[in-house]
This record gives sequence, structure tokens and C-alpha cells, in this order.
Amino acid sequence: MNFYILTLFPEMVMNGLNTSIIGRASEAGLLQIEAVNIRDYAVNKYGKVDDYPYGGGAGMLMQAQPVYDAWQSVVERIGKKPRCIYMTPQGTRFTQKTAKDLAKEEDIVLLCGHYEGIDERVLEEIVTDHISIGDYVLTGGELPAMVVVDAVSRMVPGVLGNEESGMKESFEGNLLEYPQYSRPEEWNGKKVPFVLLSGHHKNIETWRRQQSILLTKERRPDLLEKAELTEREWKWLNEI
Ligand code: ADE
Repeated sequence: MNFYILTLFPEMVMNGLNTSIIGRASEAGLLQIEAVNIRDYAVNKYGKVDDYPYGGGAGMLMQAQPVYDAWQSVVERIGKKPRCIYMTPQGTRFTQKTAKDLAKEEDIVLLCGHYEGIDERVLEEIVTDHISIGDYVLTGGELPAMVVVDAVSRMVPGVLGNEESGMKESFEGNLLEYPQYSRPEEWNGKKVPFVLLSGHHKNIETWRRQQSILLTKERRPDLLEKAELTEREWKWLNEI
């Protein structure tokens, strides 16, 4: 899967994404992540990419032409117009479902704004999706783009190594993941739940499922409303 990140800060995104699991998957050729420096497409030899907004207001806007030319360079190279995602607090909220959906694409362009944003005309021309990573405002789209690349990449077969770990985790069926424990059996006076030491797989599965349900009820009651529980599980939950 190929990601093209259009940004004014290529080192920022590449330093983050060359590390750990995503870095290893890139080295293994499962992912190709490229930062395209919008400043390379500046309108003059001084590297100018921003200007004042018409109508007044605070700050500077990224100009249309450098952004368009950076996008066009990708389109020409790959010979098609891929989905182009603009990272913006005005976008649709990014979720695990979005990550799964995007993981089906062969190529994705992520557009990172900076300063007060980007000239609307180029957005109309190239953007297919607007995505926000949450209801807060960051200084640029670089961190959100890294979040999207990370969450989408781990849905790509082979990236996580252990195929199952991408499946049985938080948000599957709108439930949060159950708590996990490792050695030693007792730490700081706290024991690992007995059922996990029992070797009884059916009981372990039931316990984990119940823990998932309880955790979701406690921390994300909004998710629990959409969770796929059996009638028996709803009954159990109402009784405790
Ligand atoms: N750019 C600035 N803030 C953002 C956010 N919350 N999500 C996506 N892009 C952004």
C-alpha cells in the first residue's frame, strides 16, 4: 500500500513513520510511505507557499498552486487520481471503521494544511475526503496524517505479523479490548486473575468477553449502545 503525504514538514512525518512497526513494514516492502515537500513546488525561487487571506483575518493561508502541483506530481507518477484526504478539524471523525475502509485502497494521498489552512479552490479541485482525528485544533495536519497512516497500515495484511492481533482488539463489535496480564503471577501484591492461569480456554474466552463488556460500559457507554451482544449477555449485564 502506498501513502503520499503532501506537507511542508516532510522530516516530521518521516521521522515518526520510519520507526517501530510501520518502519519495519516499510522496509519489508509492505508499505511505501513518501513525504512530498509542498515547498518544492513554491510559486517563486524564495520558496513562497503562503499569502494573506482575502477579506482579512488572522494568519496566512497556503496558496493553491504549490499544493496543486505537489498533488499533480503524484498523479502523474502513478498514472491515476487516488483518494486524496485533507486532514482538517472540519472533517468527518476518523474511526476504526474508516481505517479499515481506507486499508482497501492501493494508493492514498494525505494533504496536511498548516498556518490558517489552504485556499479553498485547490481543495475543491483535488480533495475526495475530509478527515478529523478529534474535536480539537492542532497546529497542522502532520500529526493527524501520521495517526491515519499508522491506523490504516496496521490493517494491511502482514504489517502486524500476528494476523489475529488486528482483529480481536478494541472497537471490534463496538467493544473495548479486555485487560491483559503477563509475568510475574503476582506483582505489587496483585494477582493475575485465576481464570487466566487455569488453561480452560472456554472459560478464558467467556471471562475476556465479559471484561470487554464491563469495560465498555464503564468507559464508553456510547459504544455499548451499538455493541453486538447476545440476548444472554444483555441479560447478564442487566443482572450485575
Ligand atoms: N488539523 C488541525 N487539527 C486537526 C484535527 N483535529 N484533525 C485533523 N486535522 C487537523
